Amino acid sequence: MTEPKNELFSRPKPRHIGIIMDGNGRWAKARMLPRMAGHRAGTDNIRRVIDACIEFGIEFVTVYAFSTENWKRPSDEVQGLMQLLSEMLDDRIGELHEKGVRLLHIGRLEQLDALTREKIKNALELTRNNKTITLIIAWNYGGRDEVVAAVQKMLRDQVKPDDVDEKLLSSYMFTSGIPDPDLMIRTSGEMRTSNFLLWQSAYAEWFFTDTLWPDFDRESLRQALESYASRERRFGKRKPEDEKQQYAG
Ligand code: FPP
Repeated sequence: MTEPKNELFSRPKPRHIGIIMDGNGRWAKARMLPRMAGHRAGTDNIRRVIDACIEFGIEFVTVYAFSTENWKRPSDEVQGLMQLLSEMLDDRIGELHEKGVRLLHIGRLEQLDALTREKIKNALELTRNNKTITLIIAWNYGGRDEVVAAVQKMLRDQVKPDDVDEKLLSSYMFTSGIPDPDLMIRTSGEMRTSNFLLWQSAYAEWFFTDTLWPDFDRESLRQALESYASRERRFGKRKPEDEKQQYAG
């Protein structure tokens, strides 16, 4: 059932959602399909979830598509995932562009082959002025590796130790200029952060669901947003009603 839009828009909603798209393998196994069929269904689902995010007025979505640890998977799976990225950049970029999606990438590009790097560069260039939503693809991304990359760059820039603060370090992250995620979603029942946006998610709310990523649809997203809207974000402060509380002694 489609809800009236005003109800969705009147509740607090995240500006930025991070998604760990887990469960593609189990989705395929349950259907006696090869793992790659799960990853393909997972890739198709990004489009569906982006459409729902646009409808719900979300500004930024970061999807964890290939981690620095995923290189340890069997080489045919690694190749298959690289192929899916390549197909997405070839076949889907026009449609994303028409919808007004701005594409960004976070992660290390240097370990990817020259053709993939070129395709990523072209997709970012094509969509750079789009305003409907920003889709950030975390590819060859790891949260710890991102901190290492930031420190390396600061040292190369000869930043003085006393000039280093949280704001400066944030500006050296792959996500420089992007607001921190407000809501992190992980599908498939696993409850780990798995090295995703470690620095940026310090104050994010987490939503875990048993739904496998290829099945995570508009309704699943609506439930996550509903849960987010019911939370009280305190950023380390006390509850507002406790602010004036007096303690004896
Ligand atoms: C986890 O499922 C998912 C991944 C390791 C990769 C996510 C990738 C995609 C959705 C497709 C590629 C994305 C783009 C942008 C082209 P899993 O394999 O660990 O599932 P399992 O835990 O059920 O085995």
